[in-house]
Amino acid sequence: MKKLIHSLRFKSLFLPSNIFYAPLAGCSDYPFRQMASSYSIGLMFCEMVKMDALIRLEKNTFHLLDYKDDMHPIGAQLCGSQPKLAGATAKIIEDLGFDVVDLNCGCPVDKITKDGSGSGMLKNPHLIGDVIANMVSSVKIPVTVKIRMGWDLNHINAEEITHIAEEAGAVAIAIHGRTRVQKYKGKANWDIIGRCKKVAKSIHVIGNGDLFTPQDALHLIEQSGCDGILISRGTMGQPWIAASIRALDQGKSFPSIDTHFIRSHLLKHGELISLYRVEAKALLDLRRVSCWFLRQIANGKELRGMINRATTVKEALSLIRNYEFPPV
Ligand SMILES: Cc1cc2nc3c(=O)[nH]c(=O)nc-3n(C[C@H](O)[C@H](O)[C@H](O)COP(=O)(O)O)c2cc1C
Repeated sequence: MKKLIHSLRFKSLFLPSNIFYAPLAGCSDYPFRQMASSYSIGLMFCEMVKMDALIRLEKNTFHLLDYKDDMHPIGAQLCGSQPKLAGATAKIIEDLGFDVVDLNCGCPVDKITKDGSGSGMLKNPHLIGDVIANMVSSVKIPVTVKIRMGWDLNHINAEEITHIAEEAGAVAIAIHGRTRVQKYKGKANWDIIGRCKKVAKSIHVIGNGDLFTPQDALHLIEQSGCDGILISRGTMGQPWIAASIRALDQGKSFPSIDTHFIRSHLLKHGELISLYRVEAKALLDLRRVSCWFLRQIANGKELRGMINRATTVKEALSLIRNYEFPPV
């Protein structure tokens, strides 16, 4: 049987697999990506950054783009709708050493869409083409775009945008099978991903939405014929998901994801957070990340409560290390 997981090429950039980890604002930060980097991801993304903040050289925005060598191949995602700014900021991303620069046309947040950015761009597909064309002419690295399938169910235009993005020179388009109006509700529509793949001539079509298990990942590729997948919420508390997808594709077994496995990953993630963040922020991040991991354990609720009441990172880590899970 033909393997569904394989390497890909974006121009001269070699990607070791077609499993990508999505940009996740407030989540796909440096410690998160350190966790992911031990599972050889095809391409991983930093959280989205706003073009105007990059141009203003905002320190906190540059901080979101921190990375280290073992995170390659790595992409940065830009959010904004002005073609000239897009070109100038894509160049900043290239100069920072990123492998790929992506345009966000999916963010549903009002604050972003009100100036026509994020999923606001879906209402103006030709502007998406102009923005991409400016990025492409400003950099040598591959330019990609991430969209939703349309603004609402009466305006599904992912196929039209696939064509426009291809003409403008994007090498890949990731399609989230929901509309802006749906935000994250309802089931993602994978048929639209297959329809975009049919209209694509040279652009790689990457499927996104509702990929939470290795089975989901292979089903989406099989069903839609897409070239690769972009995993989003399914990466939260499952940094290993790429490896488990590869194992399933190759008919190999993957280590059982038991209490011991989850605890050791949570501890590692917590330690990386504590090395990267100041104490107060580290404690908040550790509480959030603990929820991701512990919801996978049937009797993880009590420990989650204890971590939420801990007042220092050291105390929270010690709870995670020593807690005895009651029998289910
Ligand atoms: C907390 C959170 C943050 C997100 N941040 C971004 C982002 O920065 N850029 C982006 O393109 N999409 C972002 N998304 C959207 C996801 O990448 C993805 O398209 C969406 O969650 C659908 O995939 P899923 O159903 O597998 O989660 C975010 C989603 C969530 C839940």
